[in-house]
Amino acid sequence: MSIRIRLLLSYSSMLVASIVLFLLAGFLVAVAMTGDVKSVRSFYTSHYAVKPLSEPEESTYLDIKYYVKNGPAQLYDPALLQELDQKLAPIQAGIIGRQGSQLSYLSPRLNSAELPASLPPIETSNIKVRDTVQAGSRYFTYVKYDFTVPADKSEGSIYILKEVSPYGEMTRELLPVWIGVLLLSLMATNLLLYIWASRAIVKPLQSLRQSAELIKAGELDSAALPLLRSDAAMGETRPDEIGQLAQSFEEMRRKLKQSVELQLQYEENRKELVSNISHDLKTPMTSIIGYVEGIQDGVAATPDKMDTYLKTIHSKAKQMDRLIDELFLFSKLDLNKVPFVFEPLDIGVFLQQTAEELRFDLEQKGIRLDKPEAGKPPVLVFADRDQLKRLIGNMVDNSLKHMDKREPRIAIGWGMKGPNGDEVVVCMEDNGAGIAAEALPYVFDRFYRADASRSGQSGGSGLGLAIAKQIIERHGGRIWAESEPGKGTRMFFTLRKNDEANGRPGEGLA
Ligand SMILES: Nc1ncnc2c1ncn2[C@@H]1O[C@H](COP(=O)(O)OP(=O)(O)OP(=O)(O)O)[C@@H](O)[C@H]1O
Ligand SMILES: [Mg+2]
Repeated sequence: MSIRIRLLLSYSSMLVASIVLFLLAGFLVAVAMTGDVKSVRSFYTSHYAVKPLSEPEESTYLDIKYYVKNGPAQLYDPALLQELDQKLAPIQAGIIGRQGSQLSYLSPRLNSAELPASLPPIETSNIKVRDTVQAGSRYFTYVKYDFTVPADKSEGSIYILKEVSPYGEMTRELLPVWIGVLLLSLMATNLLLYIWASRAIVKPLQSLRQSAELIKAGELDSAALPLLRSDAAMGETRPDEIGQLAQSFEEMRRKLKQSVELQLQYEENRKELVSNISHDLKTPMTSIIGYVEGIQDGVAATPDKMDTYLKTIHSKAKQMDRLIDELFLFSKLDLNKVPFVFEPLDIGVFLQQTAEELRFDLEQKGIRLDKPEAGKPPVLVFADRDQLKRLIGNMVDNSLKHMDKREPRIAIGWGMKGPNGDEVVVCMEDNGAGIAAEALPYVFDRFYRADASRSGQSGGSGLGLAIAKQIIERHGGRIWAESEPGKGTRMFFTLRKNDEANGRPGEGLA
């Protein structure tokens, strides 16, 4: 059953219940007032009977009945009637006496010339003794007694009348209309409440459903979703459950969009990775096959030529081997499968040692290596010695590959950084070719090479700095590059200081 139908049902049953209760209450009031279930039926028509007679009216009425029994002719006597009339003075009621159609007495308090003519004809069975009568614009309630004088068979009547408010009378006459109006307004209120409630609940729910359908179909832009479009600022303007729902929905949409975008990005990366790997493995493999076929075809006829061919095959195979090694390492780092052995390292001493190890090799190639200045106070970092060496090796390797100066130079230095001096920054500087500004943001991406031709001329796979970045991230540090094309490049990375007081930040990374 839809919510709209449910609302409609609940509102109409409320309406029916109210009407039933309303009628029941009326019935109970009537029973309570008449004290009798049967007389309820005539409750409306004779409802004035419920209004009890006041004490003077009651006693005067009893007097009249007494006279009717014991000499009704006396009731034609205006003197007697005046005497009875006196008793009614305190309640502003009065008596009218009739002898046949003649008026025998008219109380001055009633003060109405039209009244006698408005009274009903004599009806000696006295079935209807109480009623209201209208005289001009005035209303009177009465209790009467009609009688026959046995001596002359003449008929007479005595009325005890009291003026009532015309409004009261009007209300009495219009009672069915009033009840009708009240019932109608009850229904109208119910209908309006139903429309209001169904608008406030059902409409947003419908937009929610449409939005969910759109999301299912892949539409993740908030502007296109009815719930968020129609109730754009609903979260702010509606502090109710629907507003909260809209907010949660928006949150969900945002998260979903992020995750879909991330998924697409991953997918894109994966495709690129596969394509790069295939390309980088294919190139040396093609030359190897070419040279082997050359040998098979007897192209390498002389021992010299054969030697050249074999050397080329060897170097291409090594290039592939290196690439596979790097790929393997990179993927293990990516999957967090390389065990890192973190230990406290005095960074100054460590860099001195590493530079010393590199120095011999570099000097052989005619490159000057500036070691970090000695004699600084010791600073401990928590790091994996071998991985840091690999990283520095990758950077030196890059500097060598892109060196174009006559006096090649590489420098290693370090210092403290961070708001509390709790970061160690290591800098590797060279005076090589530098990196173009547009390439700079991408050098740490896997397979990125600034020459872009992927010719393999430089022998690089574009994984060196991506590996360096992963190593530093595992250390909880940052890595970045600065470069002036033509003048040189500076590579920076940070390591967290291994301060006992700081709870050994590197330890958790192991
Ligand atoms: N010191 C540097 N001077 C000039 N260019 C650099 C330097 N270091 C890196 N680059 C540029 O950044 C690119 C990415 O470097 P990265 O070390 O990741 O790859 P690679 O050196 O090409 O390959 P690999 O290191 O896997 O052999 C390089 O191709 C190069 O264009
Ligand atoms: Mg490299």
